[in-house]
Amino acid sequence: MLELAAHILDIAENSVRAGAELIEININEDTIDDLLSIEIIDDGQGMKQEEIKKALDPFYTTKTVRRIGLGLPLLADATQRAGGHFNLESQEGKGTTVQAHFGHSHIDRQPLGDIINTLIILIAGNPDVDFVYKHKYNSRQFKMDTRNIRKEIDDIPINHPEILKYIREVSEEGFNDIKQ
Ligand SMILES: Nc1ncnc2c1ncn2[C@@H]1O[C@H](COP(=O)(O)OP(=O)(O)OP(=O)(O)O)[C@@H](O)[C@H]1O
Ligand SMILES: [Mg+2]
Repeated sequence: MLELAAHILDIAENSVRAGAELIEININEDTIDDLLSIEIIDDGQGMKQEEIKKALDPFYTTKTVRRIGLGLPLLADATQRAGGHFNLESQEGKGTTVQAHFGHSHIDRQPLGDIINTLIILIAGNPDVDFVYKHKYNSRQFKMDTRNIRKEIDDIPINHPEILKYIREVSEEGFNDIKQ
């Protein structure tokens, strides 16, 4: 995977498969302490202790179509190559939190990529799931919460093209604002 946005898509898709109703994606960029962290929190079915251990093994997957599960090991590997570390916490019946920390300016740190597009793909494909996206850049922060958007749109489905367009626009605006 070339970009962090692709990792985020994979990790959030794990959350969807785990039956999550709410998925939080937190990105924290701190250029002063030179850190970039990504946190994905879900309220899905979680994992047993032994599943957590196995999940970091690239040959473990509960999917039946393919026998190699790569999402978590690839992200863990990407953090290590960029002077960072990886953390997986999960509680059966409660949910899962994945944290990936990177050296912000590390030469091997993958670029963020099109994170807004990842968000739109997730919302478009999973209209019954709520997503919160928080992006912090030093002291500035932007937040998008589909639960708030749902309140504004009444009966229109969240994955209606016009609504997705609106979410893309406000997210891009927020994203550009915090980086200025
Ligand atoms: N958020 C989560 N909640 C519950 N179980 C999870 C979660 N994330 C991962 N898992 C478990 O860990 C396994 C490994 O996940 P990983 O993303 O590494 O591989 P995969 O999703 O099976 O395959 P791939 O990502 O390569 O398509 C999953 O099959 C699933 O059983
Ligand atoms: Mg996966």
